Amino acid sequence: MSLETIDVYDAARYEIGIPHQDFQLLRAQAPVFRHADPQVPEGFWAVTRHPDVVRVSRSSELFSSSRRTAILGEMSEEARAQQQLMMLNMDPPAHTRLRSLVNRGFTPRVIAQMREHLRLASEVIVDKALAAGTGDFVELVAADLPLIVIAELMGVPLEDRHRLFEWSNRLASATDLQLEEGGDAATAVFEIYEYANNLGATKRANPADDIVTKLTSPDENGEALSELEFDLFFLLLMFAGNETTRNAITGGMIAMINNPGQWERLRADPDLAPTAADEIVRWVSPVNAFRRTATQDLELGGQLIRENDKVVIFYSSANFDEDVFTDPYTFDIGRSPNPHIGFGGGGAHFCLGRHLAILEIEQMYRVLVERVRRVELLEPPTRLRSNFVNGVTAMPVRFVPA
Ligand code: HEM
Repeated sequence: MSLETIDVYDAARYEIGIPHQDFQLLRAQAPVFRHADPQVPEGFWAVTRHPDVVRVSRSSELFSSSRRTAILGEMSEEARAQQQLMMLNMDPPAHTRLRSLVNRGFTPRVIAQMREHLRLASEVIVDKALAAGTGDFVELVAADLPLIVIAELMGVPLEDRHRLFEWSNRLASATDLQLEEGGDAATAVFEIYEYANNLGATKRANPADDIVTKLTSPDENGEALSELEFDLFFLLLMFAGNETTRNAITGGMIAMINNPGQWERLRADPDLAPTAADEIVRWVSPVNAFRRTATQDLELGGQLIRENDKVVIFYSSANFDEDVFTDPYTFDIGRSPNPHIGFGGGGAHFCLGRHLAILEIEQMYRVLVERVRRVELLEPPTRLRSNFVNGVTAMPVRFVPA
């Protein structure tokens, strides 16, 4: 394989999972690689080594999230203008203002209080899966916990969570090139906005202790989000809190099935669940990459980057950087230290939900190893063919009770 044949933008490369061979070659030979592709008229620099991804993540001044959307891909000017009202596509101080509205709900202390609740919810889910005996692991096990949790935090009635599930799938399908024209993501967006506006109105009439109430109330200076800002916030939280954790739980099970020794190790010692959760996020890297734009000419990994050049940071590559991780291609549920950057490399946009996601994965796996002897694959998993989300859409399995 040579550098000329590598195309880490091509969603088809992700059909078999993370294209490790491509990333390995890039890290070794061209860690900051100028990517030219007719699909991406502006081109971009692919950043694949751990320290470089961290450096880009931590400097909003040099690597802006607002000059282009952080998610890869082309879009109309109108769509981009809308997307730039989302905090994901902002820089400080505008970003700081929005982020501070939700930060307090996701601190380690607040999240730790959810431990018992997450355990009970995981028990209900796993017992239901065991009673079914066979079925789709994604729907039966992986999807429900993140959905329940995000619905509760936001104040979405629990019985509406299947709608979040369906919208989230339709949004993710927009990045799957197997589906024509991104499936029906655009109509999903309208439905989400409409739902969010109705929910916002309900909460203004009947305030509660949840995120939607907070986002639809004026702050201490009397300032409130515009309707569109609120809609986009709702959409971001729903997607970010959902799809990613679901794919971590499913991808973790694929790793366990392929490494039965690690599954048995966790069964023998469920207290390894916290390090297992981090290893799952490293191994799966549910978010493949985000994009930034250089704000001035600068040097990165020995390359001259020009102002306005696009820079794409590949977490899926950095998480297997052999200069940082011992035996990176070994799935080791006891890995410590584990400086993975599956939640981002730090900096302003560092994942808001990282403590929550780790606790969800931890609790789910504790319950799984306690109650399930084995999960057997009935058919190969169906992967999302996307350069943004490392995802699995279906995984038919049999549950063997403990
Ligand atoms: C941002 C990954 C779960 C909410 C991010 C980023 C990554 C990420 C890579 C970008 C970081 C950066 O640009 O520096 C993940 C993974 C998850 C997960 C792998 C699960 C395993 C969650 C959950 C929530 C959440 C449960 C719950 C609300 C967010 C939000 C942002 C974000 C709102 C944007 C933050 C900002 O722009 O300031 N996540 N995430 N994520 N995540 Fe997560």
